[in-house]
Amino acid sequence: MLAIGVDIGGTKCAVNLGEVSGEDAAILQKCKIRKTSDYMPAEMLNAFVEDILSCKKMLKDSQKIEGIGISCGGPLDSSRGIILSPPNLPGWDNIPITDYLRDKTGIPAWLCNDANACALAEWKMGAGKGCKNVVFLTFGTGLGAGIILDNRLYTGACDMAGEIGHIRLSDYGPAGYGKMGSFEGFCSGGGIAQLAATMIREKRQSGKKTTLGGSPDKPEQITAAQVGLAAKNGDPLALDILRQVGCQLGKGLSVIIDFLNPECIVIGSIFVRNYDEIWPYAEQVIQEETLPAARKACRVLPSQLSESLGDIAGLIVAGYHLQTEDEK
Ligand code: BGC
Ligand code: NA
Repeated sequence: MLAIGVDIGGTKCAVNLGEVSGEDAAILQKCKIRKTSDYMPAEMLNAFVEDILSCKKMLKDSQKIEGIGISCGGPLDSSRGIILSPPNLPGWDNIPITDYLRDKTGIPAWLCNDANACALAEWKMGAGKGCKNVVFLTFGTGLGAGIILDNRLYTGACDMAGEIGHIRLSDYGPAGYGKMGSFEGFCSGGGIAQLAATMIREKRQSGKKTTLGGSPDKPEQITAAQVGLAAKNGDPLALDILRQVGCQLGKGLSVIIDFLNPECIVIGSIFVRNYDEIWPYAEQVIQEETLPAARKACRVLPSQLSESLGDIAGLIVAGYHLQTEDEK
């Protein structure tokens, strides 16, 4: 079946045409990529409509687009198709995206939390394939979880299941969503950048030198990507930053392992890129903190779909709903 995937991320938005089934998805044509920050939310909806309609024009009359799957950071309400107030999409408040896209394109549309969409993708065609219980963690612009329990996506009472990024792991530390020391505070791009700025400042104030962060008076301009690269090149401070991130990740993973007893936890983005610098510390904390039986039953894996996750997630959502609708 043909479908459109719309992927709304904190950094970029993509519209893709693809072939989907209940089990997998493949991109046929990348229709459009835009920087999220370039658009006001209201304009963005029209931009999506334009991209979808131009995608449709490329097809023959006999070819039909069966659905539009939208993957977006939460909090959101997927049953009503409304983006509520995602911390990583400032200004995107109460956007009735599925109604809007359906009305303007005539194609049914479904909205899904990005972490949930990625969990579906990794479970159906990635690192979690064949597992009954899978948790996916985004570890990108934000931190969110998607939960597959007993071979079903678990969304909770009002779609908030998996919003684990906002639990507090520590009294101090970088903030995500305004909360210091949260899981997202430590395990997200913005969080790592904040932690790096603090640690660079502390090091300089104690009279020690570091090349990390470039200009001595502007350590706050460092990005997580720069920290990740410096760590790969052996920079001691960058390695120390990622060690702290790894330890906090280990705490968060321990909670998930003891609470849900999943067979597999898959982690995306930054974890994939800096696996060697982060995982050993997380693993050590897991060894110390979890119940042995739950720990032994759980594998923690980097995302297999990795960089393509952000493009396939929307399509997976469309395939999932088309299949569910079929079964009704
Ligand atoms: C949001 C989640 C989302 C995650 C990744 C978090 O801040 O609360 O809903 O899945 O970021 O985008
Ligand atoms: Na979620």
